[in-house]
Amino acid sequence: MKRILVSGAFGQIGSELTLALRQVYGNANVVAADIRPECSQEMRDSGPVEVLDCTDGKLLASLVEKYRIDSIYHLPALLSAVAEAQPQRAWHLNMGGLMEALEVARERKCALFVPSSIGAFGPGTPRDDTPQDTIQRPNTMYGVTKVSGELLCDYYHRRFGVDVRGVRFPGIISHQTLPGGGTTDYAVSIYYEAVRKRRFTCFLKPGSFLDMMYMPDAIKAAIDLMEADPARLKHRNAFNVSAMSFAPEDICAAIQKHIPDFQMGYQIDPVRQAIADSWPRHMDDSAARAEWGWKPVWDLARMTADMLRVLGARYSFPTQLG
Ligand code: SER
Repeated sequence: MKRILVSGAFGQIGSELTLALRQVYGNANVVAADIRPECSQEMRDSGPVEVLDCTDGKLLASLVEKYRIDSIYHLPALLSAVAEAQPQRAWHLNMGGLMEALEVARERKCALFVPSSIGAFGPGTPRDDTPQDTIQRPNTMYGVTKVSGELLCDYYHRRFGVDVRGVRFPGIISHQTLPGGGTTDYAVSIYYEAVRKRRFTCFLKPGSFLDMMYMPDAIKAAIDLMEADPARLKHRNAFNVSAMSFAPEDICAAIQKHIPDFQMGYQIDPVRQAIADSWPRHMDDSAARAEWGWKPVWDLARMTADMLRVLGARYSFPTQLG
């Protein structure tokens, strides 16, 4: 049985991935670590919880020792729009935290999962069917840290034999924990606003197609990749994974099938629009499919029905949701 530590466990991905890992590997075997002291009751009651600043390598090493950890999921990061506002802090957190995790993984012989992103691509990259191996010259600090992270992880694998693996996540849509300061966040907020106000103002313009994924598929990707036979992995950091591609007007239309009077307007944020315009519309994920059997389950229509079902119940939205 694996013994896992999730760093950044209370963030958008961590809050659901940690509970999913506890289901698979046993509650006591999955430590939730985060810089924030507050977490959900379910997180606290279902397994060990620790406070961890991911840039504190000594503390990370002591937790690995204390719980005899053999696998780390390293999730902390500043997202794209916040990283543009605070580039120095983004470098410190995204790269400093990763370096500490790699060092602990090297010294303590832990496997390590590190998410990369569509943000690792830039304006020179082909935007449709973006190849697994292609030009990566991002023009955002978030992207710079993601490409650097991919290279550093490959280096630690090649040079020190660290079993580090990662995927390039698209925008992740979920209903448990809000993302903070990303360019794809509109595709989460839109569902909350749809059930609470029936109107939404989008910060990206029509036609802004981006790769997106529903959280259950993101969790499956992370766990399946870490379970994959290493002999089959030609790539490691990081695999393109894709599930759906849509523009704001598509998600609006999908919501209107359930909430006919839902309305969307636009107020473009130039910073996030420029970031979106430099990212893939749809990645080619054939390497992930071939090397470890990646296959997404959720599309826009099914995800929309599920998001509205859950949020509708939470915010007591009247019954026409189906
Ligand atoms: N969701 C992230 C962002 O928008 C991309 O990985 O910053």
